[in-house]
Amino acid sequence: MTKSDEPNIEAKSRYNRIAPIYDLLEFPMEKLLAQEWRQRVWSRVESPVVLEVGVGTGKNIPYYPERSKITAVDLSVKMLKKAQARAGEEKEGKKLSLLQMDVQKLDFPENTFDTTVATFVFCSVSDPIQGLREINRVTKSEGEVLLLEHVRPDSWFLGNAFDLLNPVSVRLIGVNINRKTVKNVRAAGLEIKRVSNLTRGNIVKMITAKPGT
Ligand SMILES: C[S@@+](CC[C@H](N)C(=O)[O-])C[C@H]1O[C@@H](n2cnc3c(N)ncnc32)[C@H](O)[C@@H]1O
Repeated sequence: MTKSDEPNIEAKSRYNRIAPIYDLLEFPMEKLLAQEWRQRVWSRVESPVVLEVGVGTGKNIPYYPERSKITAVDLSVKMLKKAQARAGEEKEGKKLSLLQMDVQKLDFPENTFDTTVATFVFCSVSDPIQGLREINRVTKSEGEVLLLEHVRPDSWFLGNAFDLLNPVSVRLIGVNINRKTVKNVRAAGLEIKRVSNLTRGNIVKMITAKPGT
C-alpha cells in the first residue's frame, strides 16, 4: 500500500460503513429535490453505451434509458450490493453491469463510452482531477460527460463558511462541501459545454462537458 492509496481506503471503508443507512440519510433531499435533478440529467442520455461512475446505492437506476447498455462502477462493495438489489427490483429490459472500480484508475480502454454520468461523486473522490481525467480518457471523443455536483458556493460569505465546515463534513460523511468542480473539470482536460445552476447560491450544478485534450 502506498501513501496515495490511503484516502481511497478511507473513502471505501466510510461508504461501506454508511451503505446500510445511506438512503435513509438522503431521503428528504432525494424526495424534495434530487429526484427531479436526476430526471433532468438522464433525460439527456440516449446513447447506446453509457458509463455511470460512483453509482452508490443505485439511485439513478430508475432513470436509466431502457435502450442503453449501462456499466456502473463504485469503490464500495456495500454500496454496490445495494445497487444490485435496486436493479433487481427494476423491470427487466435494462442492461446493467455493476463493477467495483476506482474512477481514478478505470479499467477500460480509451474511447469506450458514448456518455459518462456522475451524480454527487466528485465531492468524495480523493483526487477529483485524476478521476475526471480518467472520464476524459474513456469517453469517446464525440461523446458527452454529464455531472450533477454540489460545489463551493460563489459568494464570499458562504464560500468561506463552507471552507470552515468542510473538515467536519469530511470526517462525518466523507463529503467535501467546498470542491471547485467546474475548475477541476477544466483542469482534467474536459471541455465545458454548459453549466446550469440548479439551486439558489449556485451550490448544485449540472455540468455538461465533452472530452478534450
Ligand atoms: C455521495 S455518494 C453518491 C452516490 C450516487 N451517485 C448518488 O447519486 O446517490 C458518492 C459515491 O461515490 C463513490 N466513490 C467515492 N470515491 C470513489 C472512487 N474513487 N471511485 C469510485 N467511486 C467512488 C462512493 O463509494 C459513493 O458510493
